[in-house]
Amino acid sequence: MSELLISGAKPLYGSVKVSGAKNSVLKMMAASLLTKEPCILRNVPNLSDVQKMLDLLVDLGTEATWLNPGTLYLHNANEISCYGSEGLMREMRASILILGPLLARVHKAHIYYPGGCAIGPRPIDLHLKGLESLGATIEQEQGGVLFLYTKNGLKGNRIYLDFPSVGATENIMMAAVLAKGRTVIENAAREPEIVELQRFLSNLGANIHGAGTDTIIIEGVEKLKGTEYTVIPDRIEAGTFLLAGAITGGCVKVYGARADHNEALLYKLHEAGAEFFIGSNYIEVKNQKKPKALRIRTMPYPGFPTDLQPQITALLALADGTSLVTETVFPDRFKYVHELIRLGANIVLEGECAIIKGIPKFKGAKVLATDLRGAAALVLAALAANGESRVCELEHLDRGYENFSEKVISLGAIVERHN
Ligand code: UD1
Repeated sequence: MSELLISGAKPLYGSVKVSGAKNSVLKMMAASLLTKEPCILRNVPNLSDVQKMLDLLVDLGTEATWLNPGTLYLHNANEISCYGSEGLMREMRASILILGPLLARVHKAHIYYPGGCAIGPRPIDLHLKGLESLGATIEQEQGGVLFLYTKNGLKGNRIYLDFPSVGATENIMMAAVLAKGRTVIENAAREPEIVELQRFLSNLGANIHGAGTDTIIIEGVEKLKGTEYTVIPDRIEAGTFLLAGAITGGCVKVYGARADHNEALLYKLHEAGAEFFIGSNYIEVKNQKKPKALRIRTMPYPGFPTDLQPQITALLALADGTSLVTETVFPDRFKYVHELIRLGANIVLEGECAIIKGIPKFKGAKVLATDLRGAAALVLAALAANGESRVCELEHLDRGYENFSEKVISLGAIVERHN
């Protein structure tokens, strides 16, 4: 088990560059199944989730090569299997994203209920309902196994999502680009990663528009071609580094951070009293004062992102006054709070709310990461804590942050990684 040894209470100073977005690249990797021509992805982060998706694709028949670090070549010229690997699918939530492409390409998919972070139940009913509307028949087998197929190929349809699920929107988009006729997705998710997936699919030759609004319209085409594509910077990693600067009372310039992708966070940082400067390709944060208490409610984009909820809760644990954080997207996403309390935080959980009474300072402790963003929150708190902390089960952090320890060390943190 990997762990980070952190000597805290050192303000972070300097600049850091954000890696490619995990939540964008995983979808493009899955979408490469839609074409027999090669796809080249640039700015691909070296993360365990990316590696798992790659293993899953190779298992299905993809020819994959790293052309150099960060550049991935994916080619699906040959026959593609419809059988997703059980181990990989159960380990990674994003594995469900092969469902749409497999149905579109080989008209069948044999998959397992996906796993992922321990942040509460993560059903896939909206994915299945959407694909069923496009003509897929779904058979449930025992032990969380699903078999989906279509006899005459997928057919466009009008789909209303009960909730703007990111994954369901993406799966339906990928299935619909090769379906016959027009698909309209209403109440679609509007995240920047959806807009990027639309761009990627358009580059492949798909006829799709509307991403970024709540209605996405797709006219199916017969076949798609290959493309080269550069993955956008990870907005959640960017937000995490901005919060790292703020929580340690330092000054951090985050290259690749985009104000248009992080508006909700910037608004809240401003309200908390942090100063920031928005450059053409960076955001710089400076926070020499104690943050003011806030009220935050996570929401689908453009609301405050659930993926930054744990990290901002860590900041608010040091605020002047009492803050209220309400988690509406993943109700169980407060597991890390018990560990934050070991570092001295004063937080009471009531249903989907965390009531956070600001303390003067965290104190070093041994803590256990329980999920990806919770792990980031614990590291941020440990960076701000007096004394030494140990953050264990770092594998969670590795799922979504490339070279995290190297990056914080470059900002002056005293951190040692033990594998
Ligand atoms: C994606 C992101 C994740 C982020 C989340 C919300 C990836 C790989 N992961 O996850 O980091 O936190 O968006 O921004 O991109 N739901 C259902 N039925 C479904 C699908 C979802 O009830 O069929 C519920 C989920 O349980 C959850 C909510 O909808 O409560 C949001 O889930 P969704 O938007 O689908 O998130 P993911 O795509 O899994």
